[in-house]
Amino acid sequence: MPAASATDPAVHDSAFLRAARSEPVPHTPVWFMRQAGRSLPEYRKLREGTTMLESCMEPDLVVEITLQPVRRYGVDAAIFFSDIVLPLKAVGVDLDITPGVGPVVASPVETLADVEAIPDLTPAHVDFVTESVRRLVGELGATPLIGFAGAPFTVASYLVEGGPSKDHARTKAMMFGAPEVWEALMRKISGIAAAYLEVQVDAGASAVQLFDSWAGALSRADYERHVLPWSTQVLGRIGATGVPRIHFGVGTGEILDLMGQAGADVVGVDWRVPLEAGIARAGGRAVQGNLDPTLVFAPTEVMLERAREVVETGRTAPGHVFNLGHGVIPATDPDQLARLTDFVHEVSVR
Ligand code: CP3
Repeated sequence: MPAASATDPAVHDSAFLRAARSEPVPHTPVWFMRQAGRSLPEYRKLREGTTMLESCMEPDLVVEITLQPVRRYGVDAAIFFSDIVLPLKAVGVDLDITPGVGPVVASPVETLADVEAIPDLTPAHVDFVTESVRRLVGELGATPLIGFAGAPFTVASYLVEGGPSKDHARTKAMMFGAPEVWEALMRKISGIAAAYLEVQVDAGASAVQLFDSWAGALSRADYERHVLPWSTQVLGRIGATGVPRIHFGVGTGEILDLMGQAGADVVGVDWRVPLEAGIARAGGRAVQGNLDPTLVFAPTEVMLERAREVVETGRTAPGHVFNLGHGVIPATDPDQLARLTDFVHEVSVR
């Protein structure tokens, strides 16, 4: 089964996919990174008694959790409910997601043998993903589904550090000091990420986002030399499917042009970068972003005024997908996101 955008004209012509292809839109499309999850009471209720990774492997839960924010907000795209470490878990890496902490890996990767012990991903490892995506695409109708994967550097950081890290010191030590291990690890994770994205697109996802959340920890030169080739490989493989590719990271203002050149159709811009600078650095590509996720805690009129600026600046880009500059913060009041979605739709009508 190909991407829903290839078979359903309503999906193909949706505002989100039009913006991602830098085509004219009826209104600025909006979705929120981490729109599904802890900010929603209906999510917290559904997740009671099930761990994060268990719920990612249970199609009934994945379908329902993915649909929750679409129903509540009327956003222009759904994002598949999963996690960047799920494909590693699926091939057999011993890891878990600890509430309030994040992914924790039992035996962090240090040596070439550790890398070689990680199996490559085949569609059979993630049959529950294929089933969940197929069912979702049927339920979503004209709303496109975004598939996603973690980018090689960000996933490597969890594997090498064994958990979340502020400075990514072990990861960078491997990158600087053990180039043959680093290359093998990047090759392994790139293959897993590309295969995992292909599974989602084959099952019907209409766009993908590659999350390189922690790439902002790297200097421009080190990103270019040690990471860019691998992210380019992943995005290149997905380019062959024809679906738009979004490439996002946090604190990546100095490398936004390179993240575009890696093979993105849409460059994700975090809130630190003025959107007009993000548009210039994206080099003729569409952009996504970039309202500060903490603005939802400001008075509504302050949040909406800042959203208006983002929408207006976005109109100068070849394509603009409205989003926050990073994920929804769990304490966010869903009513604020509902107001924000309606506001962006209203003020951006062409
Ligand atoms: O709605 C969506 O955006 C789709 C779901 C999604 C999750 N993780 C669900 C999740 C997506 C796109 C991700 C990606 C992800 N996971 C990234 C890249 C995006 C980013 O935020 O930069 C990263 C770095 C991870 C790793 C990870 N997983 C972290 C840092 C955490 C949070 C730890 C915590 O508890 O604060 C997780 C767990 C996680 N992934 C949760 C959710 C809803 C929370 C766990 C829970 O609900 O029990």
